[in-house]
Amino acid sequence: MMNRSPTRTPIALTAGALCAVAILAGCATPADPAAETTRLVDQYVAESFLPGPGQDLSRLQQDDTQKDCTTTRGKPGDALAEAIRAREARNMAYPEGGRLLGDWKAGQKIFNDGFGYRIGSFIPSNPNAVRGGNCYACHQGEKKEVAFGNLGTSLQSYGKVRGQSEPIVKYTYEKIYNAKVYNACSNMPRLGHKGILSPKQVADLTAYLLDPASPINQ
Ligand code: HEC
Repeated sequence: MMNRSPTRTPIALTAGALCAVAILAGCATPADPAAETTRLVDQYVAESFLPGPGQDLSRLQQDDTQKDCTTTRGKPGDALAEAIRAREARNMAYPEGGRLLGDWKAGQKIFNDGFGYRIGSFIPSNPNAVRGGNCYACHQGEKKEVAFGNLGTSLQSYGKVRGQSEPIVKYTYEKIYNAKVYNACSNMPRLGHKGILSPKQVADLTAYLLDPASPINQ
């Protein structure tokens, strides 16, 4: 952990001194500085994304899980983590017919499609518009892809290493659908839960990660 006190102290002193000078001119110290900071952050974020076609501004509102993870800085503790996971699990959904292994070729396209769900790509008039998963932005996948990100673990040879047992298939599907069911404050987007990918697309990705014929397992 970096020790921040050497830079913090002078800033605090300066702010305090300025306020002391300006107090006659009506400088008001907020009653709750943390709440004031939160209010300002919310305001600046809201002002950064203007309404318009393709914008889904509802995404700027944190849901209960995001709030819990923000206030605990991603370390919710055992009891809250369990409550978060239980809350997230309530919205798990599976494809029609319950087949968790879909078409790996379709999954390959979704994995490597960088279009994702970025600002401007949401089409409210067409909730069925096909969006990519942008998985490679965080995960290493096929060997031929060199422009992968590494926020997430490498998924190269994922199925080769884990096999295709029923618990692995279920875990993989559910993890992609909603990573927070397993890791309460995961940094991975909840792709199915948030409606970015359909249950069928999540099943296609599950097959892409697990099928022995998939290029990710070569
Ligand atoms: C913003 C970054 C990000 C994106 C985008 C992302 N992931 Fe992840 N993913 C992570 C992180 C971080 C972890 C590890 C932490 C955890 O387990 O929650 C993870 C974990 C996983 C795991 C579990 C790996 C294991 O060893 O058990 C799987 C499977 C996975 N991701 C698949 C995907 C797929 C498929 C996509 C695209 C639809 C995707 N991820 C998109 C960040 C991301």
